[in-house]
Amino acid sequence: MHRVVLPETGMMDAWREVARRLAAHAVPPAQVEWAVGEAEQSLFDAEPLPTGEGRALKVPRAFLEIAEKAILHRDPASPDLLYQALMRLQDQPQLLSDAADPLVRRLGALQKAVYRDIHKMRAFVRFREIPSDRDRRRFAAWFEPEHRVVEANAGFFARRFSDMDWAIHTPDLSVIHENGEIGFAPGAPRPDLPDDAAESLWATYFTNIFNPARIKLGSMRQHMPLKYWKNMPETAQIPAMLEGAEARVRAMQAAGATHAPARAATITERYRAAMPKAPEVIGTLEDARAAVQHCTRCGLCRHATQAVFGEGPAEAPLMVVGEQPGDQEDLQGRPFVGPAGKVLDEVMQQSGLDRGAAWMTNAVKHFKFTPRGKRRIHQSPDKGEVAACKWWLDLERDFVKPQLTLGLGATAALALTGNGGGITKRRGTVEETATGPVLLSWHPSYILRIPDAGRAAEARAELAEDLSLARRLLAGG
Ligand code: URA
Repeated sequence: MHRVVLPETGMMDAWREVARRLAAHAVPPAQVEWAVGEAEQSLFDAEPLPTGEGRALKVPRAFLEIAEKAILHRDPASPDLLYQALMRLQDQPQLLSDAADPLVRRLGALQKAVYRDIHKMRAFVRFREIPSDRDRRRFAAWFEPEHRVVEANAGFFARRFSDMDWAIHTPDLSVIHENGEIGFAPGAPRPDLPDDAAESLWATYFTNIFNPARIKLGSMRQHMPLKYWKNMPETAQIPAMLEGAEARVRAMQAAGATHAPARAATITERYRAAMPKAPEVIGTLEDARAAVQHCTRCGLCRHATQAVFGEGPAEAPLMVVGEQPGDQEDLQGRPFVGPAGKVLDEVMQQSGLDRGAAWMTNAVKHFKFTPRGKRRIHQSPDKGEVAACKWWLDLERDFVKPQLTLGLGATAALALTGNGGGITKRRGTVEETATGPVLLSWHPSYILRIPDAGRAAEARAELAEDLSLARRLLAGG
């Protein structure tokens, strides 16, 4: 019998090294006992591992991707299940495509649970500032992950909070970031962390974005499970907000609608009077910008203030495609300058993408809305409107010829790929199209509309992840 003890950090590397040696010598899974973290020093203390080259192994990339996550699951069986799969893959190279195989399904479930836990940690860690005697600010947080995801998340937090020192303590492992270096220390009991000033600001923000008319308790609990609440300052507001929600909704209904201001109509008139003539031939992006103002390919031109064409360098390597201009974009005539644009700008910056170097545009060039009271409420364009406006998007793509296009949300995905399927399963993936590769992700407006703060933070982290992938793809990675 071989006994293998995997360390708490570097688990995947250790498992891979040992599993490779065992599998190369065809050691059956029943003769290996796996454990985690009991004695970091010795990886194996029963029968020594076989030595020598052994047979060559077939290890598909997809298996390594599953293994990287599944090994972090707290299920004590996970190293053994992975080893069983590795052994079976030697005779059944197509094993992973058999979705009905119980082992494949179980590993898929482990991978998914760890993946979710990684995102939960990103969304729910709350730092508190602690005294510092250096010129860098210091923060600490306490978190209780379900699985062993601390090491897997260390790089994410180091990139996001690179300019400060911080530590995240968990029951099994602490990660410490000092002067830009990441280190690990054993787990610790929950430290006594002080309240900090940013906390009340965060709580105020949370109370303000709470919409009493859109309470979905089930989904709130699903995305922000109760066990995380005790470490999140904003959750203290939830009971009081829920209590007052019904009364607030009644007050909103009683206040009723008011009339739309003349602002948009005035801008439209002023704008149309000064509108440049349509060029006879569209030979450049600037011709297209002038020509799109005369577009009547669908009915949206009748109510929008103006068409919002793309902007950016004419030969930008990256094209970012949203859905359609919003209220602010419609008035200013530029894409992504409203609240969704602000989120996008922040996430692009955080992911190392320069907005100024990208061609920013939308699948549909006119704002579609219904007036309600003082506001113009966004409405998604229908398939016919998307198809009509694709003429302009194709023109932009022809001129700019981006190396990579980032499609944000389902409307952009439809216009760019012709596939009108939802974005949930497609985000983070690149789809090849006749006009080049298209990487899909969440639309920032979707993130802004998520009522649950935890899920919103999670989706924002996913958008950042996808934008980082875009940066790597553009760099040739
Ligand atoms: N949403 C979009 O899709 N595009 C914009 O320009 C603004 C909001």
